[in-house]
Amino acid sequence: MSRLHQKILEEIAASQGTPTYIYSADSLETAARRWVDAASDASRIFFAAKANTNLAVLDRLRSTGIGIEVATAGERARAERAGFPRDRILLGGVPKAADVVSDAIGSGLALVVLQADHEVEAAIAAADPARPTRIGIRVRPGIRAGAHPSLETGRKDAKFGYTPPDVVGIWNRLAGTPGLNPEVLAVHLGSGIDTLDPWDRALDVLLDLAEVLNTSEAPVREFDLGGGLGVDYESDRDPDPSELVRRVDARLDGTGFSSRFEPGRSIMARAGSLLTRVLYRRERGGAPALVCDAGFTDFARFALYGSEHRIEPVVGSMAGSATVDVLGPTCESGDVIGTDRRLHDVQPDDLLIVRDVGAYGFVMASNYNSRPRPAEVMIEGDSFHVVRSRETLEDLWRGESSS
Ligand code: LLP
Repeated sequence: MSRLHQKILEEIAASQGTPTYIYSADSLETAARRWVDAASDASRIFFAAKANTNLAVLDRLRSTGIGIEVATAGERARAERAGFPRDRILLGGVPKAADVVSDAIGSGLALVVLQADHEVEAAIAAADPARPTRIGIRVRPGIRAGAHPSLETGRKDAKFGYTPPDVVGIWNRLAGTPGLNPEVLAVHLGSGIDTLDPWDRALDVLLDLAEVLNTSEAPVREFDLGGGLGVDYESDRDPDPSELVRRVDARLDGTGFSSRFEPGRSIMARAGSLLTRVLYRRERGGAPALVCDAGFTDFARFALYGSEHRIEPVVGSMAGSATVDVLGPTCESGDVIGTDRRLHDVQPDDLLIVRDVGAYGFVMASNYNSRPRPAEVMIEGDSFHVVRSRETLEDLWRGESSS
């Protein structure tokens, strides 16, 4: 770690306390621009807001020209608050309450992706010929892809979307509804995918289905290929967005279909770290362990998916081969941040950095054990500013009443 980096992290710990999420403005903009360059057009890229909804992060991403994919009324409100125009907001193909769909119809969003019967009914009921809405249908292609079974969303038994044969009847119904323009077939195969083959297989399914639908009165115009491109949390070698886009463009060349993508992790993961302080050392099962002030309430990805993010000391280096486990302070044995790390020399009060947590980090934090959620800060150049202050104890019972 560079001296400059060390100094700024120590300043953040001293002024903001720990645990604290730290984002790099430079790094998130660079990652977004990599997608824009790969697609040669910012209008094909929609950041999946679920990965990180901090308003300062969204504001930065908006400045690169990309749009945003939202899944809930809350994510939509944040996107609008961060200044995304409605025609750059896409309501994604995840399970949605009916009122989230009806509020979206006729409201000028870029695209509304439907994926279950109650969403289709809500869209039909809200359709307004004076304010037509572009509609996508999420297809469940029956493909296994993703870094963990919980992250596979395109497989046969997943709860999302329709099988190709089921799409046909729904598509025709929507096509016959004035005010709804079905134009897009959407997939999201899974998350943390480290090869490009799943998209090839998905395109086989989508192209076959589009051939069937193109005999209907509403031809398919576009494929929304979702997010899912992984990040290698144990090294710096990531799958390259430009290879994915190139492969898709080559397949679609001459077909007349366009495509779009909804990356979340591959834009935000590398741009965030979690700064935590070691509380004490102890033995666990005869082996040494560090107990830190960040737990699975602040960062859940190891507890949920066994995901091994790199953990490094802010000062000093990772010496020797002896390893320790890195544990959180809460009241469960599953409160683990990482295992078998070469952090043997780390002492109480030392600072650690958990790397690559800009996606699905803070957004999955909870108040379990009545722990206030961490602060978030943004580093720009060699200075930083707070983009969400640490929750206070009063925040913990806001809205509660004791009578
Ligand atoms: N589009 C749709 C419809 C999605 O459901 C998702 C993620 C994305 C795009 C973005 O996928 P990404 O590029 O980030 O893989 N909490 C989990 C991740 C769950 C993602 C769910 N959907 C984790 O920490 O790994």
